[in-house]
Amino acid sequence: MFSDYFAINLGDFNQEFFESLDGSRHITSPTMATEKYYHTVYVEGENAGIVGFIPVEGAPYTGFVQIVLAPAYRGKGLVGKIYDRMIEIHGLKTLYATIDRTNTTSIHAHDKIGFKMLPEAELNDLRNQGLLAPYEIRMKRVA
Ligand SMILES: CC(C)(COP(=O)(O)OP(=O)(O)OC[C@H]1O[C@@H](n2cnc3c(N)ncnc32)[C@H](O)[C@@H]1OP(=O)(O)O)[C@@H](O)C(=O)NCCC(=O)NCCS
Repeated sequence: MFSDYFAINLGDFNQEFFESLDGSRHITSPTMATEKYYHTVYVEGENAGIVGFIPVEGAPYTGFVQIVLAPAYRGKGLVGKIYDRMIEIHGLKTLYATIDRTNTTSIHAHDKIGFKMLPEAELNDLRNQGLLAPYEIRMKRVA
């Protein structure tokens, strides 16, 4: 499989490359959070996307993850490998992904690598507290 043979590395975040990516609107601008860890993803040395996380306050080793891949690198099962590199580098244990309900590709990609949708009651609680928008869902994976 593509992802088994190609070297995946994470480097410094590149804002210009991020803004050039088709699909970057799907993720919160990494510049908005105060504490955040974002990287450029390199596949075989080529810029392939952006991955990062915002730590969850009061929950060690836990982060809200976000990823955008350049179109040429989609559909190759790279998402899990890229998260694994980030988990390794930052010692993450629990990952959350907040995804637009209509972004079925991303929901499927996360489901495939072990993310589970939070129960509907929990999603509704978060929405009632204003912590999740009505058009979003949240998934969780324990690394
Ligand atoms: C989300 C994203 C990172 C996923 O990467 P990817 O390489 O496409 O993901 P994968 O190939 O591992 O998995 C995608 C899966 O969704 C499936 N899929 C593709 N289009 C789909 C659709 N419209 N509805 C449902 N599933 C879909 C694919 O067939 C694949 O599943 P399969 O391997 O079982 O066939 C990438 O599409 C992307 O960068 N999108 C733009 C930015 C974005 O939305 N980021 C996520 C923000 S939370």
